[in-house]
Amino acid sequence: MSTDSEPPPLRIRPYSDLAAPAAARRQIADILLVSANPRRIAAEASHQAFLARWLDPYVAAYPEQLLLALDEGEAGRVLGVLTGCLDSAAAAVFRDLHPYYRLFADLHAVYPAHFHINCRPDHRGRGIGSRLVRHFVSLCREAGLPGVHLVTAPGVRNVGFYRRNGFTEAVERAEDGRGYLFLGQRLDRA
Ligand SMILES: CC(C)(COP(=O)(O)OP(=O)(O)OC[C@H]1O[C@@H](n2cnc3c(N)ncnc32)[C@H](O)[C@@H]1OP(=O)(O)O)[C@@H](O)C(=O)NCCC(=O)NCCS
Repeated sequence: MSTDSEPPPLRIRPYSDLAAPAAARRQIADILLVSANPRRIAAEASHQAFLARWLDPYVAAYPEQLLLALDEGEAGRVLGVLTGCLDSAAAAVFRDLHPYYRLFADLHAVYPAHFHINCRPDHRGRGIGSRLVRHFVSLCREAGLPGVHLVTAPGVRNVGFYRRNGFTEAVERAEDGRGYLFLGQRLDRA
């Protein structure tokens, strides 16, 4: 793992615990917008439409599984965001929002939880993303889930990050000429 410098003192907190969620939401939105593939943003009608797909359903329905890495030294500035959902099969909202959701639906029984993760660009490579992932995986274990997954693209840099964090079960599929990489971690085996 690349660790250019030690991360600042961090707290991992769910969105549902925040005293000032509106201020945090603005920071989360900024992180998602700056992190996204520009083509993905361009494909949307507006930034609002992008956030309606990638953020709002998690805020509305899964605030306990929306984890934030907060900088303790800087008034709780948001450094990293993990939007998660423990029961992908039951979360009908995502089936219409994301084409790949249906593509991997047969794997949701074994890997029920899913997440997306993004860190502030100036704080990447400092272990913050790994802390968020470990925290989410521990929530999944506490819930007794057999597995957890994420979907990314084949060949991109974050694949190494996920593999190092235990997401080693890989399934690659394509739809409409675009490749998707499902990465799963079993929690019921060790
Ligand atoms: C992927 C990401 C969440 C990891 O968080 P992090 O705190 O940077 O990760 P850690 O410090 O724990 O681990 C470092 C690893 O993260 C990944 N990473 C670091 N910077 C990255 C970047 N700009 N883009 C993609 N992955 C990156 C790399 O795999 C890195 O290891 P490497 O330097 O050996 O390649 C974060 O880098 C990020 O937000 N990247 C851009 C957005 C993204 O790719 N999100 C995932 C969408 S599926």
